[in-house]
Amino acid sequence: MRQAGRYQKEYREIRRNHAILDICLTAELAAEVSMLPPRQFPDLDAAIIFSDILLILRPLGVQIGFGQGEGPSIANPIQTQADVDALRPLDGESLQPVYDAIRIVKRELAGRMPLIGFAGAPFTLASYAVEGGSSRNYLKAKALMITPVWVALMNKLADAVIFHLRRQVEAGAEMLQLFDSWVGTLGSDDYREYVLPYSKRIFDALRGSVPIIHFATESAHLLELMTEAGGDVIGVDWRLPLDAAWSRIGKRAIQGNLDPATLLAPREHLLRRADEVLRRAAGRPGHIFNLGHGVLPPTPVENVAALIEHVHARTAQR
Ligand code: CP3
Repeated sequence: MRQAGRYQKEYREIRRNHAILDICLTAELAAEVSMLPPRQFPDLDAAIIFSDILLILRPLGVQIGFGQGEGPSIANPIQTQADVDALRPLDGESLQPVYDAIRIVKRELAGRMPLIGFAGAPFTLASYAVEGGSSRNYLKAKALMITPVWVALMNKLADAVIFHLRRQVEAGAEMLQLFDSWVGTLGSDDYREYVLPYSKRIFDALRGSVPIIHFATESAHLLELMTEAGGDVIGVDWRLPLDAAWSRIGKRAIQGNLDPATLLAPREHLLRRADEVLRRAAGRPGHIFNLGHGVLPPTPVENVAALIEHVHARTAQR
């Protein structure tokens, strides 16, 4: 996640001339940015399409924008049943540039590594749509959650996500990731009642297509419930040791979980912490080494390269 981004000078160069939404909605640009990490780090095991989880909200009628240097903001946050009724279903055309970008990237990767497609999970999408942007306490979302409006909203979002993920697979995505980045704000009773059924519907709908990673941050208390909702792979952040997380998700594969801040530390510390993650994975099959969240903007590119090389050197010995 956030494999491409502001830590790369080539990305910053492109961003000087193009807004984030323009990049996402211009197939050639999205493909070019998606190819930055695979070109810079040819030993990566997978590439991810450059897009954003919030893109899907626009064709539904939620006016999402990205301000200069700020987070996302929404001009017409969802508050009422009428707001939810006004949401349109996702059509085949609006996000066509994403699918076209996938086709271009697949051609350019030429089988050298698999390509991951993705979408936001209904809760994380709803949190932006209802709060009107990023939030700390999610008070509006938590208030709406306990009303019937929530059921209608989450169902519409789940429908759109299923449509979008299916299209990405048709375009060539060989794996998918569902980002429920902020769901850790909920206690487990709320997750079970207001989130699990909708995320589960997505995993059920896509069963038998491609493997899916189910990711959230600050979600140690939700691991069993997230596993119940679905996902072939559970993505975990760095707050819980990998082996402790793995023992709680049963037979599923796991993705994680180096703290992205470690990439800013001296090399010796970075590699020591990477070894710690590998030690906790203990060579068991089904571990995808990854950061516990996205690459941070001040990350030195050389450290990313050193980490990839180190992990490959260590795991190839087995
Ligand atoms: O890894 C990749 O190359 C794919 C790119 C990717 C982006 N967003 C591009 C992006 C992915 C996988 C996402 C997912 C995403 N977007 C998530 C889930 C993953 C996570 O981080 O938890 C979320 C919550 C969003 C919403 C979002 N997009 C926010 C809150 C912001 C602004 C915050 C920030 O870091 O500035 C974005 C903008 C965004 N999307 C950036 C990138 C590279 C940074 C913006 C920039 O270039 O100016």
